[in-house]
Amino acid sequence: MKKTLLTLAALLSLGATMAQKPKAGESKENYLQNLLNKMTLDEKLGQLTLFTSDMASTGPVMRDNYQLDIKSGKCGNIFNAYGPQYTRKLQSLAMHSRLKIPLLFGYDVIHGHKTIFPIPLGESCAWDTLLSEQSARIAAVEASADGLHWTYSPMVDIARDPRWGRVAEGSGEDPVLGSAIGRAKVRGYQGTSLKDKSTVLSCVKHFALYGAPVAGRDYNTVDMSKQQMFNVYLPPYKAAIDAGAASVMSSFNDINGIPATANSWLMNDLLRKQWGFKGFVVTDYTSINEMVYHGNVANEYEAGIAALKAGIDMDMQGAVFYNYLKKALDENKVSMTDIDQAVLRVLGAKWDLGLFEDPYLYCDPKRAAREIMSKENLDKAEEIAEASVVLLKNKGNILPLQAKGTIAFIGPMVKNKRDLIGNWSGAGNWTQSTSLWEAIEPRMTAAGAKALYAMGANVTNDTNLIKKMNIQEFIDKRSQDELENEAMQIAMQADMVVMALGESEGMSGEAASRSDITLPGTQLELLKKIHGLGKPVILLLSSGRPLALSWEDQHVDAILQTWFLGTRSGKAIGDILFGDAIPTGKLTMTFPRSVGQVPIYYAAKSTGRPFDPNQKYTSKYLDIENTPLYPFGYGLSYTTYAYSNFKLSKNTLAEGEYFDVQVDVKNTGNRAGKEIVQLYTRDLVGSSTRPMKELKRFAKIALEPGETKTVRFNLSSEDLKFFNYDLNWVLEPGKFKVMVGPNSNELLEAELEVK
Ligand code: BGC
Repeated sequence: MKKTLLTLAALLSLGATMAQKPKAGESKENYLQNLLNKMTLDEKLGQLTLFTSDMASTGPVMRDNYQLDIKSGKCGNIFNAYGPQYTRKLQSLAMHSRLKIPLLFGYDVIHGHKTIFPIPLGESCAWDTLLSEQSARIAAVEASADGLHWTYSPMVDIARDPRWGRVAEGSGEDPVLGSAIGRAKVRGYQGTSLKDKSTVLSCVKHFALYGAPVAGRDYNTVDMSKQQMFNVYLPPYKAAIDAGAASVMSSFNDINGIPATANSWLMNDLLRKQWGFKGFVVTDYTSINEMVYHGNVANEYEAGIAALKAGIDMDMQGAVFYNYLKKALDENKVSMTDIDQAVLRVLGAKWDLGLFEDPYLYCDPKRAAREIMSKENLDKAEEIAEASVVLLKNKGNILPLQAKGTIAFIGPMVKNKRDLIGNWSGAGNWTQSTSLWEAIEPRMTAAGAKALYAMGANVTNDTNLIKKMNIQEFIDKRSQDELENEAMQIAMQADMVVMALGESEGMSGEAASRSDITLPGTQLELLKKIHGLGKPVILLLSSGRPLALSWEDQHVDAILQTWFLGTRSGKAIGDILFGDAIPTGKLTMTFPRSVGQVPIYYAAKSTGRPFDPNQKYTSKYLDIENTPLYPFGYGLSYTTYAYSNFKLSKNTLAEGEYFDVQVDVKNTGNRAGKEIVQLYTRDLVGSSTRPMKELKRFAKIALEPGETKTVRFNLSSEDLKFFNYDLNWVLEPGKFKVMVGPNSNELLEAELEVK
């Protein structure tokens, strides 16, 4: 009898603690509160814990036994696991835990999941928010079909220092463009409802200011005025959050002395109170633990307390919440309310995705087979790849090429597929991408022309670096002389030479800062030798950052900046090279003349001693100009445009009023094209010093040869406001310049007075 009673009690208690499907019409709050009431402290901390699976790792440490943690309810979230079968297997472990709370699966789907799009810096050069949204939409469709719920994207860190390798992952140096792209990405990932199983949670990162490390060295200190933060660096995070981003990732860096992950001002005051963010905040990879090295806490116990108190909800890989929050609670250093609110935020995301109704919603192999790398997805990747290419130089309109005679294709990027899909290419498989050679060789042969090939140089000869980047198998073991001689022989037989040079993908991205941002290895030497033959030379440049290209700019005939363009790289480059497609991209990061000018950006201030070549004591270098090699917004095409009839609808403006800016843009060449029209303003006298140019609007318009379109921008007094010294968002009376043109350096100007 006693035994029966016990069993019954056990059964009852089991029944009472099982996570049940929400009842019809049950509110989220009600369901989650009931669930929370049943959770033990360990189970709560489990929801605040995110561990990497053993499928892949994106950081320094890996935890054994994470599967046991899932089963015991001590790990509620997994990253670096994908595939419907694999995620189903892990999800079923969670379904064996006491409360059966579904796992959340996250992954770095940065520029595509399996169909890989251009690296974000490249894609931003399309200045096309629709394309940005579409690539994110496709990434979400593929990722969600592959078992994923959550992507660690968009990265909206403003970056003005190309030494920092992670410039590759963002949208460049400008807050207005960066905000527009951030919003588009969130829309693309999250769609209109997270309940739609083709959507994933987005994660805005790296909050905050990760793109401003001292000296461009990854993870380095960030020390910045609040004005600079509010006017330049914070707007893209805010824009992505306003667009509804479900999660935010705290950054590795400290901010004016307090690591972002323990920065209560940042998370509690700014993000949640001021900006009204309702989602959850995850740390970056072990960034709680790393506070011990930052030196703002003595040990991981203190770090965990600081992070939770600062508003962090989920600990990525560090197991600090897992190990120490129990003790912190016992010692009254954190409260159950602190823990519960974090748990509810995480559970809230799982609810929004529909996981309590069906934990296997995203584990459908049939869907994966149908939706991943479909023809439409690949075609879109090609369209975006083409739109991302920037033509930097085209002497005598040597481009586009004609497939005739003999052309030598030389360089480590000609037959390369591995590098061209770029860093952070997630689940993408480089063997499924097209190389440049695969795209151009058949085209040349079909036209009765001859394509010759030589590698000419390895991407680098630095054995240390080769090992670090794990690219031994892609290195040609022949001596530098042999490689070069072969290339010279080939070049001598050709009518012209196309050099495909650049960085290896691992030279940008995380932990990949460079102090020298010229072409790596012996590539520049090779280029000089080939150029010495006196034949026309076209340079195709693959890189994850702006490179310093002064010699190249002076000597070669044409330069196409091709970044890392993803799965359809080769096809896109080939089409632009031979003119089936036309370059339309424009730079979103300034290209310096030399690394010594870095950080360099268009929205600079005047200083009290503006540059004057005839005055010694003005702001300049002794050995180089102040100007960049290629300014922000710059890019050529195979056609040309003329700007005229630039007008403002009024010359004075009061608070709350709108004004129109219009300009006629004519396609003066003989090819249909697309022009990116840019509008900048300058506040001539401010209570604080103001940038000499600030992008406010842009438009991409299609024009047939000879066609003229009138481009109209509508602005208001809001567009002329800024955060003043006291961080008030103000409109200050006085004169403004309004400027329109094809890039930040060639602008028509008009004056506007704010009354
Ligand atoms: C990176 C993040 C990334 C995370 C997870 C970190 O090292 O900084 O951008 O999302 O790893 O892979």
